[in-house]
Amino acid sequence: MTDEAARPIAVDRPEPGPERPAAAPPSRPRVIRDPDEARDAARTLRRERGSLALVPTMGFLHEGHLSLLDRAREQASAVAISIFVNPTQFGPDEDYEAYPRDLERDARLAAERGADFVFAPTAAAMYPGSPTITVDPGRLADRLCGLGRPGHFRGVLTVVLKLLHVLEPDVAVFGRKDFQQSVLVRRMIRELDVPTRIETAPIVREPGGLAMSSRNTYLSPSERRVALSLSRGLRLVRERFAAGERDPSALVSLARATMETAGAVVEYAEVVDPRELAGVEEASAEAVCAVAARVGSTRLIDNTPLGGNSSLDAPGRPGAPE
Ligand code: PAJ
Repeated sequence: MTDEAARPIAVDRPEPGPERPAAAPPSRPRVIRDPDEARDAARTLRRERGSLALVPTMGFLHEGHLSLLDRAREQASAVAISIFVNPTQFGPDEDYEAYPRDLERDARLAAERGADFVFAPTAAAMYPGSPTITVDPGRLADRLCGLGRPGHFRGVLTVVLKLLHVLEPDVAVFGRKDFQQSVLVRRMIRELDVPTRIETAPIVREPGGLAMSSRNTYLSPSERRVALSLSRGLRLVRERFAAGERDPSALVSLARATMETAGAVVEYAEVVDPRELAGVEEASAEAVCAVAARVGSTRLIDNTPLGGNSSLDAPGRPGAPE
């Protein structure tokens, strides 16, 4: 972490104002709704501080999102977070309307974790008129989550590219929680020559192992117990791999059985290579076991690399399972 990033936010700000006590973090950062205004604010921060990191989110922030802000502060001297429930990445039968929203709370949490401003555009501001141009995610979207969510990654990549063009960050931070998304974003950056560096941060989990997600709020207490079977299955897969199992179908069966026995409805369980997202013939340490399942009406995803020395991806973090 740079000295710059380690300083308290109020000291870090370009114009703290004589009346504000230097050490007190602001209770609410600037919330900008207009894309042109956001671009101006981002350019000013970049000019005054030297670099800008962006954390794109759909809000209803939890510790997983906030850990991305921590990573962002390590990567750049100014940090922006976008909060936008992007309609184009939701299918017609998905939860766009019901998706949880709380901008007041999000803005406060983001400020406490060092965000210099929040970009929270309306859908009308992001998609004026009747847009006709989108980003084609290509064949990597025909796998894993893309199979059950046609059009999802087209919506994700299109909005991510737009956010990068509006805010022009030097670096953007994504979570490994959305594994396929992070792979596709990296590919887009490389293949479309976007001058932003992509950082990927580990999955933050609740006690017991459940990967944090804004959608966890939908879960009843009994569903929460069923939801734990995703991370439990992945943990068992890692253990079986560590014990020498190299047959991907044996590993996948273990994950699937763990989830099904608990009462989750499995959408997919796969062991894939982390670049092409294709199934592997022999499991290796860098291969990723990725799962998606429905618990009641809630769709959950999780993943883990098979090898490495962490437990499930976020070693030592509060909430990481044994
Ligand atoms: P959202 O689901 O809000 O997630 C925003 C970012 O937080 C993503 O990069 C996601 O991987 C990361 N994240 C979510 N849960 C996490 C956890 N438990 N640990 C670590 N990181 C976590 O992903 C999206 O929004 C959207 O698709 C978006 C990229 C903003 C485009 O609309």
